[in-house]
Amino acid sequence: MTRYSINIKHPEQQLGFAIFADDKDGFLSMNQFVMHGSFFAHRALMRDAEMLNTIALRIERLSQEELHLLNRWYDFFWNMMEAHHAAEDDLLFRAVEKKMEQPSETIEEMEVEHNRIQFLIDEIKRVIGELERTDKKVLLCKELQLHTDALLNVFNAHIMKEEAYILEKMKAHFTINEQRKIENEVKRKAPVRYLSYMVPWLHDSLSVEENKILDQSLPWTAKLMNRFFWKNNYTRLLNPVKTLLELHPHVLERS
Ligand SMILES: [Fe+2]
Repeated sequence: MTRYSINIKHPEQQLGFAIFADDKDGFLSMNQFVMHGSFFAHRALMRDAEMLNTIALRIERLSQEELHLLNRWYDFFWNMMEAHHAAEDDLLFRAVEKKMEQPSETIEEMEVEHNRIQFLIDEIKRVIGELERTDKKVLLCKELQLHTDALLNVFNAHIMKEEAYILEKMKAHFTINEQRKIENEVKRKAPVRYLSYMVPWLHDSLSVEENKILDQSLPWTAKLMNRFFWKNNYTRLLNPVKTLLELHPHVLERS
């Protein structure tokens, strides 16, 4: 068996040094984190929550047509957030508790926060729907701004805590293969709609470095589907919302 010691520059930049064995099942290479999928989804959800909060600031000036296009995009965002949290609750957290052989207080907190976030995205869905149907908008606009601002803050604090916890648990207790098994399970159980939007959605929200890692993990079939179908569908959904943001270009740029 050969051992290598190399310095790895990695998105988390927390690895520094990892000791690898050329052992096929990856058992000996614990302390490496390979579950990028869930963290990348956080980047995309955070970018979208920022866009939403910025649009909410000028919601009273949107036309009925613009509100309709916003609502269509919001339905997509609602589905991505809901599917993401369902995968965390049903698969990721269960895998951690099973490995730790005991319930986790942190996971309980995360699940309570998922319910809070679900309440907020349901409320936002209700308010945008009402805004589309009524011309009495003043109170609804205020309500929307309160909810989108709360969503941004609650979600940001939630993913900070969740990522630190998951990173620590994965690196300390799960082999690379075990992590990949969880990610594959998440993909296998994800709604088709989620998968068909996931690739272009992530591409649009991640940094250059992160996109490189994403592309390395994608099978060629997904790249092909994205090239000819998924990307167009996503662009049609997103472009009207990006137009609404013309006044606030800073939200879209990521280093
Ligand atoms: Fe979460």
